[in-house]
Amino acid sequence: MAERAVLAYSGGLDTSVAVKWLKERYGYDVVTFTVDIGNVPNLDAIRQKALKAGAVDAVVTDAREEFLSDFVFPSLKADAVYEGEYPLATAIGRPLIAKLLVEVARQKGAVAVAHGCTGKGNDQVRLDVGVGTLAPELKIIAPAREWGMTREQLMRYAEANSIPVPTTRKSPYSIDENLWGRSIETGVLEDPWREPPADVYLWTRDPADTPAKAAYVEIEFEQGVPVAVDGKRMGAIDLVTALHALAGEHGVGRVDHVENRLVGIKSREIYEAPAATVLLKAHAALQNLVLTKDQLRFKSMVATRYADLIYNGLWFSGLRHNLVAFVESTQEYVNGTVRIKLFKGTCTVVGRKSPHSLYDISLATYDKGDTFNQADSPGFIRLWGLPSRLQARAQEGILTED
Ligand code: ARG
Repeated sequence: MAERAVLAYSGGLDTSVAVKWLKERYGYDVVTFTVDIGNVPNLDAIRQKALKAGAVDAVVTDAREEFLSDFVFPSLKADAVYEGEYPLATAIGRPLIAKLLVEVARQKGAVAVAHGCTGKGNDQVRLDVGVGTLAPELKIIAPAREWGMTREQLMRYAEANSIPVPTTRKSPYSIDENLWGRSIETGVLEDPWREPPADVYLWTRDPADTPAKAAYVEIEFEQGVPVAVDGKRMGAIDLVTALHALAGEHGVGRVDHVENRLVGIKSREIYEAPAATVLLKAHAALQNLVLTKDQLRFKSMVATRYADLIYNGLWFSGLRHNLVAFVESTQEYVNGTVRIKLFKGTCTVVGRKSPHSLYDISLATYDKGDTFNQADSPGFIRLWGLPSRLQARAQEGILTED
């Protein structure tokens, strides 16, 4: 019996050709594996397609729930956003795919796993590092990184091997989607000066065409995890889907970013992340109410590092494991509700409340009921400014620029 490889299969031309190519080049019987993390409308159709393309077996699974609970929400609690712009949807999906590929490879007795990534992007790193960390015994093959075929050659290869080729015109963009967001690159987007054409966007309306009336939405969190929308408790998938629709309708969640890839190049990418944009904003606003300034400052350093780890394919690492412990301990009191206004592409926090809020109106108010003792301030200021006064006296030059 031939050795087996498990191929992460999307149903597209590349991975369909890869089924055949892996047999030809490496002699493997190919088991395909397709996972729905919010990107596959019909798993069964993909399964049939894989078998037609020559797979000896085709495994499909719906991992949407696990994706949200074990990958997306931990990242939300960490406020993980890459370079201040990208909510990391694609990047967060990869470690889950790597983990499931390993599980299927073990179930099916495969000696190798394969995926459709090219040799220029971040995704090859995320999958290779993930699989290599979890299952060092497995060989990893990325056919598109090795075969050097153009799209024309791919089409001819497919036709010659009776692999069904797409009948619809190929999108001018390279697109990756999951429940947390949609990533769009290549084509005219490669010119960073050029405004993205309207056809780039699918999940968010052009803010020029959104409703003239703002929408308000209230999101409730328990220990940093969103659990209800407008007072209605929902499971993770329903909650994210509801916010996706509402925010998209109001044109919220568009990102146009020139990002620094791990492989050293800068690339221009457009993202649509309506639900992620709303949830990240709401989470931060609630957290701001219950954590101290020191906790918040430290946590924002952790957030940057955490986002870099995810982006750079190091989900399964000791450092992330350690950072998770920190992040979790910060979320204990992140309970409460945030009120968000969605209007013409903007998402604004207009209200927040928590049973553990550190906001004390009797300290903050300028009206009556003020309990802040202003007489304490002069003494505090004298001590606060003491090092500056001492230094100015002893080191006069410190106060001049030259
Ligand atoms: N640049 C993003 C990342 O590295 C998305 C990559 C996938 N994008 C795509 N359009 N295929 O995570």
